[in-house]
Amino acid sequence: METKAKLYIETYGCQMNVADSEVVVSILKEKGYEITEDIQMADVILVNTCSIRENAEQRVWGRLDVFRQIKKKKPELTVGVIGCMAERLKEKLIEEEKTVDIVVGPDAYRDLPNLLENAESGHKGVNVILSREETYADISPVRLDKNHISAFVSIMRGCNNMCSYCIVPYVRGAERSRDPKSIINEVTELLEKGYKEVTLIGQNVDSYNWKDEKNEKVSFSQLLEMVALINPALRVRFSTSHPKDLSDDVLHTMSKHPNICKHIHLPAQSGSTRVLELMKRGYTREWYLDRIKAIKIILPDCSISTDLMTGFSGETEEDHSETLSLMRQVIYDFAYMFKYSERPNTFASRHLKDDILESIKTRRLTEIIDLQNELSAKSKKEDLGKTFEVLVEGYSKKSKDYLYGRTSQNKVVVFPRKNYNIGDYVQVEIIDCTSATLIGESVI
Ligand code: 5AD
Ligand code: SF4
Repeated sequence: METKAKLYIETYGCQMNVADSEVVVSILKEKGYEITEDIQMADVILVNTCSIRENAEQRVWGRLDVFRQIKKKKPELTVGVIGCMAERLKEKLIEEEKTVDIVVGPDAYRDLPNLLENAESGHKGVNVILSREETYADISPVRLDKNHISAFVSIMRGCNNMCSYCIVPYVRGAERSRDPKSIINEVTELLEKGYKEVTLIGQNVDSYNWKDEKNEKVSFSQLLEMVALINPALRVRFSTSHPKDLSDDVLHTMSKHPNICKHIHLPAQSGSTRVLELMKRGYTREWYLDRIKAIKIILPDCSISTDLMTGFSGETEEDHSETLSLMRQVIYDFAYMFKYSERPNTFASRHLKDDILESIKTRRLTEIIDLQNELSAKSKKEDLGKTFEVLVEGYSKKSKDYLYGRTSQNKVVVFPRKNYNIGDYVQVEIIDCTSATLIGESVI
């Protein structure tokens, strides 16, 4: 009997990359590859990469060092770099790191079997062609998550916003929406397999815009409703919203359907209109705050999270304090915070100076992290005494006697297991909290 080639895949970056790796595995399984979680057993190693910040790429170079050592002992091993960094660096990757056999961009995954076959016979290969159509709509992703409770479903690819700091439009190409029928089918299949939650993902979900042959349109709020109606017991999340495009329609759809989770990730990047303009974000501080007001009025129990960046080109102390004041005004439940990292060939790298000292970027980042810690603590304190429906995702890391799950607001709750199981919806009263989690007790 012929033994199947073993594929080991490692994923860095955003949720989109997680979803893409599942598409890649599906394509390769179809061609007879078998997944392995043991890197030493692999015939093929693929690393799905991110370019968003310099340090994301550094991490991948570090991994390539490790793969080189493995290949020394096993010369027949094939190493592939796929995803955003593959798209950005193209053949340079092979030139700089001889360990790499194939380089494949985010829109070229259907070519992987062919490139791997050529690599086996000693031919290195690169395919970084971006597409205006590819959405991998017909491919049923092979789920790589552990719990089989929650899955990402990609609803669009690419991005048309040209934020001046951002590499994404260059490495993921133009925006395109996926056929809603294929989205509904994928979600229905997940439900049949026992999944309890889906997260609809795209770089800017609010600009989802499908047109069929008869020119009938489906907007994001319509798609969201279609997915919510599949089954009231299926939780629906989505990410990422863009402040310039988040419509009241979407908020009203969220309020109409209890199974659409009450959490919005709304990246602000900065609280200063002057900086937002330099970033080409397409909104002002006032516009952003107006969207926050709409969320708070239409969805009073909705949590809000954000992305923030410190030290963008020309950011003054005053701009920085406007970011701090925006945070205080919104009271984010959680936030992802970064130092600006200049990316080659973006508008900012060509036209603006990366002129904020590293030490100042770091100090400002520390200030926003410290403030966010205060705000997150405040947000958790407000949950004390309240009861939430928690979808159980697994056992607590510390003890098998405890389960963990998330509230609709995307907050993690740990509580005593009793007779509950993974996948159950449990009413949990919050009785305490640590810096990262809520602690509760199930109520019948
Ligand atoms: N430097 C630092 N952070 C960045 N992000 C995007 N581009 C950069 C960059 N060049 C951040 C933004 C975005 C998140 C995904 O990553 O905050 O929302
Ligand atoms: Fe995701 Fe952007 Fe990183 Fe690509 S560069 S993996 S799109 S975060």
